[in-house]
Amino acid sequence: AQVDKAGHKHFMAKEIAEQPHVIAEAIRHYLPVEEDTVRLPGEVDFSQVERLTMVACGTAYYACVTAKYWFEQIARLPVEVDIASEFRYREPPIPAKTLALFVSQSGETADTLAALRFCQEKADTILSVVNVPESSIARESDLALPIFAGPEIGVASTKAFTCQLTVLLALALKAACDRGHLSAEEMAEYATAIRGLPNVLSSALEQNEAIRQAAQKVSEARDVLFLGRGLMFPLALEGALKLKEISYIHAEAYASGELKHGPIALIDKNMPVVVLTPKDALFDKSVSNMQEVLARKGKVLMISDQDGINEAGDDVWCAIRMPRVKEALTPILYAIPAQLLAYHTAVAKGTDVDQPRNLAKSVTVE
Ligand code: G6P
Repeated sequence: AQVDKAGHKHFMAKEIAEQPHVIAEAIRHYLPVEEDTVRLPGEVDFSQVERLTMVACGTAYYACVTAKYWFEQIARLPVEVDIASEFRYREPPIPAKTLALFVSQSGETADTLAALRFCQEKADTILSVVNVPESSIARESDLALPIFAGPEIGVASTKAFTCQLTVLLALALKAACDRGHLSAEEMAEYATAIRGLPNVLSSALEQNEAIRQAAQKVSEARDVLFLGRGLMFPLALEGALKLKEISYIHAEAYASGELKHGPIALIDKNMPVVVLTPKDALFDKSVSNMQEVLARKGKVLMISDQDGINEAGDDVWCAIRMPRVKEALTPILYAIPAQLLAYHTAVAKGTDVDQPRNLAKSVTVE
């Protein structure tokens, strides 16, 4: 069927707005209501797995970097993450008991497919997380996990990213259960929190106007820096990618702790710095980095929850308020303001949001 913009100005706007709905669909499949366990479309047993290797490109790669934190922290499973074009030519040794996981919206990205083929016969199991179940990557893996995002038309990935994250989190929880690191009670807590995500994402979308106003100011910048710690670091990478893809503003992301090791030299009154910092275990560390930016007259755009903004939001340029969620879920939630910021900045600049110059939806040649 023909996909239309359903009253939105761009496909990207429609796809951002659709997220509560498509994520609910993914949740229905992986965490069916009547059960507090993760349901996969086939057999996977993580109890004998000793190492997880995740490979992808672009936004799907940042979903993998986020998932590394989940698999290591919740399932205590060692994880290697790599960019497909590097992985395939480096030809790394694949140790015994490795599970290889490939993430791709299209399922046709040439480098990711080549990396998968390199792992065939070497890895114990090959899994993929895809949006297109008939794709090459899905067909060539032992088991494909669909993300149920529906067709994504905007070149800059949005709903596929949050659906990938949702499926990867479910998979990390399954791994944690298989490996004996999660009690039934803890699993039930996660399930409840994840089932609440569609509502939480809807309230994040209500910040649209506040983000649009912030974006008017960001659209005047030449460079933008994104900072985050822990689970917010990969999201900072994704936020910077979104902004440069569609607004053509140079954007870079750093782990907040690396600020002192280089990017602080760039901070002046012309530099917007997006600080992604829910009031989590690393909040105080993030805030001290944020203060280093403020001390150099950097313009801080703080994205946090009410508690975080109350505690540290006094001197910031602008603050965007997100609902409070269980810490593990913050990357899925904070993806919304990162996407909306890029979107409204691009609209303010008048660029072609859905078809940014030089970019392709799916890179099927090298
Ligand atoms: C292109 C797209 C990105 C996407 C990347 C990987 O660069 O513009 O949005 O993240 O390819 O694509 P895949 O289909 O493998 O997820």
